[in-house]
Amino acid sequence: HESLAKAAEGLFKIGTALNERQLNSGENQSLALTKQHFNAIVAENCMKSGRIQPVEGEFVWEHADRFVEFGEKHGMEINGHTLIWHSQAPRWFFVDEQGNDVSKEVLIERMETHINTLVGRYKGRVHTWDVVNETILDDGSWRNSKFYQILGEDFVKIAFELAHKADPEARLFYNDYSMAMPGKREGVVNMVKNLQKQGVKIDGIGMQGHVGLDYPSLEEFENSIKAFADLGVEVMITEMDVSALPNPSNHQGAEISDSIEYQQMLNPYTEGLPDSVQQRFNERYLDFFNLFLKYKDNISRVTFWGVTDRYSWKNNFPVRGRTDYPLLFDRDYQAKAVVSDIIELL
Ligand code: XIL
Repeated sequence: HESLAKAAEGLFKIGTALNERQLNSGENQSLALTKQHFNAIVAENCMKSGRIQPVEGEFVWEHADRFVEFGEKHGMEINGHTLIWHSQAPRWFFVDEQGNDVSKEVLIERMETHINTLVGRYKGRVHTWDVVNETILDDGSWRNSKFYQILGEDFVKIAFELAHKADPEARLFYNDYSMAMPGKREGVVNMVKNLQKQGVKIDGIGMQGHVGLDYPSLEEFENSIKAFADLGVEVMITEMDVSALPNPSNHQGAEISDSIEYQQMLNPYTEGLPDSVQQRFNERYLDFFNLFLKYKDNISRVTFWGVTDRYSWKNNFPVRGRTDYPLLFDRDYQAKAVVSDIIELL
């Protein structure tokens, strides 16, 4: 096999996020890799509310159109990301002319216009939507976003119902990070059960796979796959990348390397990845893919958050001034060794 997606046929789709830079500036090498290795794409930024409707009533379609056309041209599953999210949302969405919070009615009206217009435009063409993104915190409580402040928990139900009405065929997902955390797992399970009880159509749960070399534990990640699958919905790994750099905010795992050099590393490309770290990086991807294989009947798609390290959001995040090594293809568009290992495993 010369292709991840082909190797995974019959198991799950293999997706990648695409951003404007790749779609517009003739980033031919990224697009060639996308065609070769992936059969699903997700919009990294161009469908977020602040991008698509930066000013009330003024929709910017240029990038999203190009994204959808690319997927159609190559017969890919096309995933929309994301309709309702507190982040990368325009301020106008939540305030009136005086700058005060809008009423429930006005916020619902704005959600309706936003969802109808966006989902409606790509009806039958965008196959799945991340309807709501990141509304449960790591301890299982609700994020105190503007949506929550104005509408309470109901905004999730409202969003799913609006999306379903706008495209009855589209598969609808809830998406979040840190899903291996027991508190968050429980919070998400409760929220989804509640939606199901009310008869809301929710097809799946997206587990963002932004992981490190030693967090989260595979066991907790598996517990979450199981808990979500038990709800009778699809499970997707939506934003996979494995940071090869120490995460200062992670206190969960054993240190992969105690060496000061590693702890202070800013750029594996110029400083070199210690062998132990390189090996751990490969193992991590293979451990996760072994887990995904075990749950192949529940997992419908594994999506990477980007094609090459060159354009990864992990560069400069969560620490500015760092260059990371998180994806399957390096900064020169070359497949890392782990690509053929994954293909062989599948
Ligand atoms: C990130 C993009 O990759 C960046 O380009 C952008 O600057 C910020 O957002 N969780 C999500 C994604 O659901 O939308 C985020 O994408 C990464 C974290």
